Amino acid sequence: MKKMVVILFISCKLIFAADFGYVLKNVDNADILLYKGSKIEVVDSSKVMLKAFVNSKNEFFFDKNFVFKIGKLKNNSLVNKTNEYIFKLEKDKFSKDPLESWEEYEELYYEACTQCHSAHEPVEHTMLEWEGLYSSMAEQSQLDKEIGEKVLRYLKSHAKNGFVTP
Ligand code: HEC
Repeated sequence: MKKMVVILFISCKLIFAADFGYVLKNVDNADILLYKGSKIEVVDSSKVMLKAFVNSKNEFFFDKNFVFKIGKLKNNSLVNKTNEYIFKLEKDKFSKDPLESWEEYEELYYEACTQCHSAHEPVEHTMLEWEGLYSSMAEQSQLDKEIGEKVLRYLKSHAKNGFVTP
């Protein structure tokens, strides 16, 4: 009997294992702004959940140390203590394959950062380390600000403690 319960529990866990996705474009609605590539958890066919930390300016961060900004909370009434935000998002606005939403920024990274040396794998460093390394490199490479921000988002998301690590 005990065994049966355990097996049932495990199979339920497998069936209901969280389904993740990555938004394909910036999501910008009345409730939130969420940057392209951010990771969400699928709740049902029209809703997703974002786990994020919010600072005093209502900006969303992936980490509690506020190193990786992933968007902005626009609707104050959604602030909560669990750091879990559920909102509407159509199926075609995200992909389960991280590459689909990140390949554009990945290309920018390899273009901008392999002119003087071979590419350093994002997973070699933490998000915070990338922030420091990036700023000294961006100066050397005279990177366009907008492209630079995308490159840094790519590095942080794929960093050792990012959310797209293999
Ligand atoms: C203009 C040439 C140039 C460009 C462009 C460049 N780098 Fe570098 N990078 C260097 C040189 C020179 C070094 C080695 C000396 C040093 O650390 O400054 C280096 C070293 C590094 C290191 C190793 C640092 C360490 O302390 O381990 C990393 C990581 C790095 N670069 C990342 C990047 C990234 C990310 C970009 C794109 C934003 C980039 N680089 C673009 C010249 C460049």
